[in-house]
Amino acid sequence: MSELGTGRLVGRVAFVSGGLRGIGLAIAERYLAEGAQVVLSDLDAADSALPQETLARLGKSASYIAANVTSEADWDRAREHVAQRHGKLHILVNNAGTDLTGPVESLTMDAWRRIMAINVDGVFLGTRVFQPMLAASGGEFRGGSSIINISSIMGLVGYTDTSAYNASKGAVRLFTKSIAVEFATKRTPIRANSIHPGFVVTPLLHAGFQRWVEKGFAATAQDLIDTTAATTPIGRLADPAEIAGAAFFLASEDSSYMTGSEVVVDGGWTAQ
Ligand SMILES: NC(=O)c1ccc[n+]([C@@H]2O[C@H](COP(=O)([O-])OP(=O)(O)OC[C@H]3O[C@@H](n4cnc5c(N)ncnc54)[C@H](O)[C@@H]3O)[C@@H](O)[C@H]2O)c1
Repeated sequence: MSELGTGRLVGRVAFVSGGLRGIGLAIAERYLAEGAQVVLSDLDAADSALPQETLARLGKSASYIAANVTSEADWDRAREHVAQRHGKLHILVNNAGTDLTGPVESLTMDAWRRIMAINVDGVFLGTRVFQPMLAASGGEFRGGSSIINISSIMGLVGYTDTSAYNASKGAVRLFTKSIAVEFATKRTPIRANSIHPGFVVTPLLHAGFQRWVEKGFAATAQDLIDTTAATTPIGRLADPAEIAGAAFFLASEDSSYMTGSEVVVDGGWTAQ
């Protein structure tokens, strides 16, 4: 029997930002396999090829809205989409994110503000706009509604030439703890937890490694993948589906007593 598709998210509606690629797409696929209705958002125009192909593959339980997580107006449109299509929301995954590397003295103000806007403002705005709907829907399940914010191991420890990304993901970690305490103490039925992936094979990782190659830090991206695997205790990088497993757990009743937690999925990288 397959481990997937237990139907434990039947009756739930989920929203996943940055849902067309990488970790967000894997989370959306897992939620659908478990019986949820899923709304994906991303930057791509709704009538462009990738959203169309993705929806055709995912089926009728999925829908898509083009929305930039840095835009308040786009978040308002996303809320309208969810309200009209489902009238409720139980799971919010603030996943959309980007990276930025370089020595701190080389970072421009624009580059710093851009990563903070996507990685931090995006999580705040998604939480703010969907909080009332999550609160209203949370009473349907013992564990309430669930906000899952995708931070990183880079939100736990520092890393060379990664200060802006480290700062943004550290902010996601503590923002999550703050709203978790806020909601729990006010008996608002929303849990909030962060996931801290290690190195995951996605388009973002490939693009980042390619930039390191162009800067001369390695001959090929494959060399960087091999080096990263060698410094990870488990000996390999993660598949996005392995992050989706944690996102499923945090969305399900099995995590009903968890809020304000940080779930590290890194093959032992930060355990060293
Ligand atoms: N890949 C890794 O190794 C890794 C490790 C730890 C944490 N993360 C985090 O996981 C999340 C997903 O990363 P991924 O590796 O799947 O990246 P990815 O680039 O493969 O996918 C991210 C998606 O987010 C979308 N996106 C980017 N900016 C957006 C914006 N302003 N508004 C809406 N959508 C936007 C992109 O178009 C893309 O589809 C990010 O928050 C990232 O920081 C990734």
